[in-house]
Amino acid sequence: MNYICNDCKSKYPINDSKILCNCGGMLNLEKDILDFTDEDINKREFSLFRYLKVLPFNRNEHSWRKVSMGEGLTPIIPFDDKYKNILLKMDYLMPTLSFKDRGAVVLIAKAKELGITKVIQDSSGNAGNSVAAYASRVGISCDIYVPEGTSEKKVKQIEAHGAKVHIISGTREDTAKEALKAVNKGDGFYASHVYNPIFYEGTKTYVYEVYEQLNGCLPHSFVIPVGNGTLLLGVYIGLLELLEYGLISKLPKIIGVQAENCAPIFRAFVDGKEVVDPVENYGTKAEGIAIADPKRGKQILEAISKTNGTIITAKEEKILEAQKLLAKKGLYVEVTTAATLAAYLEYIKENNEISNQNVIIPLCGAGLKSS
Ligand SMILES: Cc1ncc(COP(=O)(O)O)c(C=O)c1O
Ligand SMILES: [Zn+2]
Repeated sequence: MNYICNDCKSKYPINDSKILCNCGGMLNLEKDILDFTDEDINKREFSLFRYLKVLPFNRNEHSWRKVSMGEGLTPIIPFDDKYKNILLKMDYLMPTLSFKDRGAVVLIAKAKELGITKVIQDSSGNAGNSVAAYASRVGISCDIYVPEGTSEKKVKQIEAHGAKVHIISGTREDTAKEALKAVNKGDGFYASHVYNPIFYEGTKTYVYEVYEQLNGCLPHSFVIPVGNGTLLLGVYIGLLELLEYGLISKLPKIIGVQAENCAPIFRAFVDGKEVVDPVENYGTKAEGIAIADPKRGKQILEAISKTNGTIITAKEEKILEAQKLLAKKGLYVEVTTAATLAAYLEYIKENNEISNQNVIIPLCGAGLKSS
């Protein structure tokens, strides 16, 4: 198994501290193609490690057991009677209350296996919560960089795990620059959910679970919030793998969701571009998807177009409305999560044929985390 450059295809060993290819390209994971059937699911393991065969660990190596907190296996439930085709996947039912635990558990388990003693990460909050929690669980020290304005509850949660929080004035992009400066000084391993492809091996389990829970019948579309695209790209990787194993015969669509006030991927998609140019963030309550310069933008566009999907946006005034609607249904989610439903409900008003198709929307973060 190697890192492989998304652009020039150069390869690097994964025990290297490489962040980017020498050409500046983002790194993916090159895997040996395995076969995988339903029998390969370890039904006696009640966490996402039931799909161990497709995760980047040696099957005789059990170090992940010390890291896992039973993450994954989140329920899929109907939204309500009015919208019979909308299914919700309850990804906020995770140890740190967001879907980021999928990626963090796999990345920290790998870091532990590599003997890493200190990690550095930058985040809008939830990924920082996850990395801090898993790092603390296995005695890895941790520095998390967050932008000013990050929900106070998320900052407190990170600190509670013993991580050092650096609050950076400026944008989410300025925060990433500060973290990278520390990494380049040799202060620690960059446990980035954006750059490190091992994180996406965790988020791809979202698809394996849906496949298992729906008895092999995937929905017509996966509706997914996208800032940096860790869930969206994980879903794409998972879908490509299922296709490769012959477990599905065609790819469901991926429908990405951004906040209207910070929508670089939407912009590039509408303009028919293959790369994503940074945009100005005009301010959105959906802090988790407010990424003005997504580093894997090109790959996100590719995932959307290869699945014949699309990208839609949420208006600010509709986001809080959707949060209330979900709460009325018993589901208390964070504002960013409500943006996904908000955008989708507006979208189907004008697209009747999709409203008759089954879609899955993730509830990514718990409401108790929003300030
Ligand atoms: C609740 C929530 N939803 C969605 C996202 C978007 O994830 P990504 O930036 O990986 O696309 C985030 C990211 O932090 C989040 O916290
Ligand atoms: Zn390269």
